Amino acid sequence: MPATKSFQKHIQFLRNDIEKAIHQIPLDKSPTYFYDPIKYVLNGKGKRLRPILVHLTGQIFSSDPEGLMKAAIAVELLHNFSLVHDDIMDEDDVRHGQPSVHKKWDNASAILAGDGLFVLSHLILTGLSPYVHQRFNEVTLAICEGQGMDKEFEDDASITMGNYLVMIGKKTGSLLGLSAEVGALIADGSKEAAHHLFEFGLNLGLAFQIQDDFLEIYSSESSMGKSLGSDIRSGKQTALTILAREKNPDQWSKFNKKKNSILAFQSYFESNGIKKETEKVIQHYIDKAQDGLNEFPEGKRENLNQFTTMILNRTY
Ligand code: IPE
Ligand code: IPE
Ligand code: MG
Ligand code: MG
Repeated sequence: MPATKSFQKHIQFLRNDIEKAIHQIPLDKSPTYFYDPIKYVLNGKGKRLRPILVHLTGQIFSSDPEGLMKAAIAVELLHNFSLVHDDIMDEDDVRHGQPSVHKKWDNASAILAGDGLFVLSHLILTGLSPYVHQRFNEVTLAICEGQGMDKEFEDDASITMGNYLVMIGKKTGSLLGLSAEVGALIADGSKEAAHHLFEFGLNLGLAFQIQDDFLEIYSSESSMGKSLGSDIRSGKQTALTILAREKNPDQWSKFNKKKNSILAFQSYFESNGIKKETEKVIQHYIDKAQDGLNEFPEGKRENLNQFTTMILNRTY
């Protein structure tokens, strides 16, 4: 079921508020070597899904709006820090429909811009509880571990679906988990409620990353606004490649040795039933996320259910 009109309006309203808050961060400063790339990143066309999620869960607990906006902007900055460094690591030249930072400037500028975004995300949290700071740091460590695993797994044909799920849970799931959980922490909601929300965000993040791997094959650079094809180029372990290998190792290894076009990958995955299987796995984690919401009264979980559906139907 698509998201209702009133939900879409609510999301648009939140997105506008988030953009306003991001643009209030004082960045018209020197040295421009440091600040210009940061401004460039924050003026980019990110979907702002994580800060939207912070607000949607915070609204369940009537969290303090100022604290909620701080946390929302902090997760978005943390996310963008990880993207700037990720594009260096993945050698991806396009992000948000424009050259990635290391391409527009160079690696040195991009490393420094990422560092700056990370520190700014922490400064914005000033005044929130030590436990909120702790969770931000724990999740940042998990993202770094996930990114480390993602690199370590390259070209490793022994990686299982279980290994992959741990890796994407860390690199992507943990930040969606934190985005879902932080509203409860700000409102001093119970640790139990915060834990349920983290699990909800984690499952949503698993679906989101598997979908990202799927769209890398079945979407286009123009609609995604970022370079595609690096997964294949770098021998990344993705849901599609792991399922294909597990289904028929010999056939996959023969196929994968060749220099295949994206079209060839598309038709391999389609004719072997891998495309369908991957779609099922995405749906599985979406369902799991939604089941986790049953802990909350119906009226309170409605927006989060709609947000989940919106993610499932995303095309970029
Ligand atoms: C991209 O996330 C990185 C992944 C975790 C797959 P998004 O698709 O949410 O990126 P932006 O924020 O819209 O740029
Ligand atoms: C996204 O990793 C996760 C982080 C940036 C931490 P990917 O490398 O899979 O995402 P895209 O495709 O570059 O956005
Ligand atoms: Mg990448
Ligand atoms: Mg990556």
